[in-house]
Amino acid sequence: MFLKPSNNNNPIHYFCGHSLGLQPFKTQELIVSELNKWANSGVEGHFEEPKPWFSYHHTAKKGLAKLCGAKEAEVNANSSLSSNIHNLFATFYKPTKDKFKILTEDISFSSDNFAVQTQVQFHGYHPDSAIVYLKHNEKYCFSTEYILQQIETHREELELIWLSGVNFLSGQVLDIEKITKCAEKYKIKVGLDLAHAIGNISMQLHNWGVDFAVWCSYKYLNAGPGSTGGYFVHEKNFPKSLNPQLKSQNPQLTTILGGWWGHNEETRFQTGLTFDPVNNADAWLHSNANVLSLAALRASLDIFLSEDIERLLEKSKEMTLYAFNKLKSSNKIRILTPENQRGNMISTQVLNEDKSLISKLKEQNILVDWREPGIMRFSFCPLYNEEAEWKHFINLLSEIL
Ligand SMILES: Cc1ncc(COP(=O)(O)O)c(C=O)c1O
Repeated sequence: MFLKPSNNNNPIHYFCGHSLGLQPFKTQELIVSELNKWANSGVEGHFEEPKPWFSYHHTAKKGLAKLCGAKEAEVNANSSLSSNIHNLFATFYKPTKDKFKILTEDISFSSDNFAVQTQVQFHGYHPDSAIVYLKHNEKYCFSTEYILQQIETHREELELIWLSGVNFLSGQVLDIEKITKCAEKYKIKVGLDLAHAIGNISMQLHNWGVDFAVWCSYKYLNAGPGSTGGYFVHEKNFPKSLNPQLKSQNPQLTTILGGWWGHNEETRFQTGLTFDPVNNADAWLHSNANVLSLAALRASLDIFLSEDIERLLEKSKEMTLYAFNKLKSSNKIRILTPENQRGNMISTQVLNEDKSLISKLKEQNILVDWREPGIMRFSFCPLYNEEAEWKHFINLLSEIL
């Protein structure tokens, strides 16, 4: 189902799906088909069947909804992860004199950290007073009890909780359900970065009551470098419910920063109108869709749609358990990822930050990655990592160690 990288005709054993997923066989065909439509029909392609570009973004909804545990109306693919953070914060981070703080991890991806810092500054606050950082433990993780206790402690001032579903460094899967239920009690909104979670772990964003989430599609979604991002907005936050609530506080407030693709389809091409957002997650779309990128995403989502997610999760558990059992007693590396809060990725801290381990693996055509300080990360993708190769990799790694 996927094209595998190679080195002088020797297959590369690829364990970097957490960074960039592999290319499905069908990707080129689906992109070329849109290129052909463009070549043959020009602008008419916007309304030409099959799959007119005008509504091409809808092709991603079914697959994304399945992976997020959401309704199709609650998800979409558009723009990029970091831009979607700002787009959705514009709606969900509405600080007031008393409630203005954001709770987030002290070790999160740089772009998230910059987004949170500049969001509070944008609203006139200082990051030192407006951001409550959760402090990581010695394994770069955060216990659920500690997170819940921090929510309790700061509940009066928290406007928003912003967390990663799966931490990019440690691979820890957070207990989103428990965190969201606790936040809900105090009417604190919850937003998530799912870059490392979507296509990796099982999620029920709708039932858990998460307010909003964003992701990129080049990791476990296999849509190619820099491919279009995506987001989730819970139906409780759709414009028709959100707008009256906010407007009753202040009639001048807007809930959504508008663009033509978020506006009512019937009048999208007219000018001189007042913004009339579609009453679902599409309201947060700004621009017309990047069709070539969405074609690549479709190729991968079609695979997820044809798969039994529970079976994929079982396979993932089997692979990571094998790795845990082989590596956990090593005195050359220590596993950072908690065994009972793991997805496809395992993070290990290498003693003395000895990066030669990566080169030794690369000489054997095994690709993993490295993040400072001395952290080797590898992931097992049930869609394309085969038993012979993942066993070979773990056995070899344990021999080298
Ligand atoms: C956890 C996480 N958040 C944010 C980003 C930034 O993504 P983008 O460049 O698509 O905005 C990445 C990129 O790898 C990431 O891993």
